[in-house]
Amino acid sequence: MVWLPASTHWKFLRKIAVTQMFTSQRLDASQALRGKKVQELLEYVHENCNNGQAVDIGKSVLTTVLNLISNTFFSHDIASYNSDLSQEFSYLVLGVMEYIGKPNIADYFPILRLVDPQGVRRKTNNYFKRLNHILDSIISERNRLRSSSVASKACHDVLDALLILVEEENTELSFADIKALLRDFFMAGSDTTSSTVEWAMAELLLNPDKLVKAKTELQEVDGPMVHLTLASLVHSFDWKIADGLTPQDIDMSETFGITLHKREPLQAIPMKT
Ligand code: HEM
Repeated sequence: MVWLPASTHWKFLRKIAVTQMFTSQRLDASQALRGKKVQELLEYVHENCNNGQAVDIGKSVLTTVLNLISNTFFSHDIASYNSDLSQEFSYLVLGVMEYIGKPNIADYFPILRLVDPQGVRRKTNNYFKRLNHILDSIISERNRLRSSSVASKACHDVLDALLILVEEENTELSFADIKALLRDFFMAGSDTTSSTVEWAMAELLLNPDKLVKAKTELQEVDGPMVHLTLASLVHSFDWKIADGLTPQDIDMSETFGITLHKREPLQAIPMKT
């Protein structure tokens, strides 16, 4: 959907997104899930707090958001805070975002497209291939489960809802569409949200008086993922910048890309309030 030109099929996919993913019932039903995933983030930050260790804010929030999206779609975690082994999905999503946002000389001189001098197309294709492989295995596993028992056909998550639509007669929705939708939502929703939280935290640490004000105003918080996550981090901990740096030392420069990343990841040490 993200890559299609405005066309009948693009409109169709947007309609699927609106009717299957962004319904008020689905959003209401996932409220508890959002709370649970933010709670898991806070537990991870607590661990770091007890050990006096810095937290990579962007990376940790990315794990939270990927798991929120993966649980909404197919009811299990796709990323983890601690295990390097299960970081592949985050790595692939970030890889795609990095390479599709890179200025590519072959876009300006089409004669160079085949040569692909910076390897942008080769690397992006490689990331997409690996992401597709993971999504293929998740969809196959779900299809296997769905065909194994009548009870499992009950519609619980977005993937179930989409697979039911694919089975309908004369449907316009294909398995390739389902995979593309899943991929789009992981890419469009994860890096954007985690990066926004990271920037907001960096701004607050840069302005300690604003951080104190935010903490005192945060009694009860509910609403969008960015607000909920940021509010929970600010409300539950005091923060100091890692490596003995002062607020003025925080590097607020940005990298060029499709989403605006901090050049230096924000490393902050959580402390008990
Ligand atoms: C702070 C967080 C976010 C920011 C700043 C952001 C920003 C944007 C922007 C600027 C666009 C392009 C809009 C356009 O072309 O007119 C976009 C598109 C999109 N976003 Fe987000 N977004 C965020 C979070 C999310 C989340 C959480 C999701 C879903 C889980 C999401 C899914 C999408 C999709 C699917 C599109 C493409 C829509 C289309 O092609 O019709 N985004 N986003």
